[in-house]
Amino acid sequence: MTTIAIDLSDPEYRLNPFPTYQVLRDEAPVHLVPEGTSEGEDFYVLSRYEDVSNALRDKNRFSNEVMRGRFDMPMMINRDAPEHTRLRRNANRAFNARLVLTLQDWVQTVIDEVIADALKGDRVEWIEDVTATLPLRVVGDMLGIPRDRKDDFRRWSQAVMDMFAVAAGLDPDEVPGFLEDLLEFGNYMTELAIARRKEPNRDDILGALVEQQQAGNCTQDELAAMAYSFVAAGHETTMNLLGGGMHMLLSDPALAKRLVDNPDLTGEFIDEYLRIYSPIQWTLRRTTEDIELHGVTIPTGALCHLVIGSAHRDPRQFPDPDRFDIDRENKGEHLGFGAGPHFCPGAALSRLLSTLTFRAYYPILDRLSLDPQEAPVPRSRQGAYGLERMSLLVSP
Ligand code: HEM
Repeated sequence: MTTIAIDLSDPEYRLNPFPTYQVLRDEAPVHLVPEGTSEGEDFYVLSRYEDVSNALRDKNRFSNEVMRGRFDMPMMINRDAPEHTRLRRNANRAFNARLVLTLQDWVQTVIDEVIADALKGDRVEWIEDVTATLPLRVVGDMLGIPRDRKDDFRRWSQAVMDMFAVAAGLDPDEVPGFLEDLLEFGNYMTELAIARRKEPNRDDILGALVEQQQAGNCTQDELAAMAYSFVAAGHETTMNLLGGGMHMLLSDPALAKRLVDNPDLTGEFIDEYLRIYSPIQWTLRRTTEDIELHGVTIPTGALCHLVIGSAHRDPRQFPDPDRFDIDRENKGEHLGFGAGPHFCPGAALSRLLSTLTFRAYYPILDRLSLDPQEAPVPRSRQGAYGLERMSLLVSP
């Protein structure tokens, strides 16, 4: 087995992992990082498209119960069948009940309000004021969370991401206070659900989840965990798509013109963006048996990083993979929303929100430009890819 240094805490790897991905795919498609987590646990890195795709779909040999007692919330993403199947059924019921078609007009209104606010001055912090605000407002409203809790909400959402990163090997000292934030969030969702039981049924996700709980389909803890899974999973991911997408439109005038002239290509743009800059770069699984792959035996119970971001740059699947190509025929084969039993239940909502948001960007692109005084700042969070800050100049 080739020795390739992967240091999860190295900023270079977090900000530009793509050269490392290439070496991994070519030289060590199953790569052991000895004692790679902060607790000194070994992990294995799978980096080729076929292997990542197969592992995501193989629920029998690759378990989602990765946390093993540490920060082990009853969230769908931490569970295998049959528990996962039950939780997922509740989520699908709650989520699909009023999704896409019924939400379109309301989501459009939220987007119009947020963008109109952002254009009021001559400079705007696009990530903070637009792309972080939009998913929080949409998912938060659907969960019945009051808008004046926006700041808490961001903190809580970040805490859940931190929990995953710590479970994957990040030193907890890098994210102080995340456990307290998590508990606070759980308690808040519980209070909200209890209060909701006394109110008339409102047609939103929290209402649907409370109904599921009252029907005995999930416990109070599971309800709270479900609600904050939505917030955590939907916030940073969508924000990274909407922020990175704006950056791309402002940096590539030919692409921007093509989309302005053909807004119906927005779905293609979203898929190719998700392929090349997957907001979720990797996810975790644990093997349930010894697995032989590319001459390596991954032992039973081993932690595996499935590197979606690398799978998307695998030339075995996507020719000339580092080129952004909106006309790429198989771009829809990306794993940006996952695959198999844990495929993202928020995919339809994200597609709706991002399609409407990009279409709202097109008519204002000629009023916006990147601030030459302040270069965009990439996010350096583990496993996530996107922009932390992006200052834009606004002309009247
Ligand atoms: C661009 C936006 C989004 C991206 C790129 C994304 C990506 C993903 C991916 C890759 C997974 C699978 C992870 C795995 O198998 O380990 C996933 C699962 C999940 N996503 Fe999303 N997501 C997005 C938006 C959303 C939204 C808006 C919501 C909810 C409001 C959401 C809720 C969830 C949940 C609850 C899961 C876990 C499902 C399960 O374990 O069965 N996501 N997402």
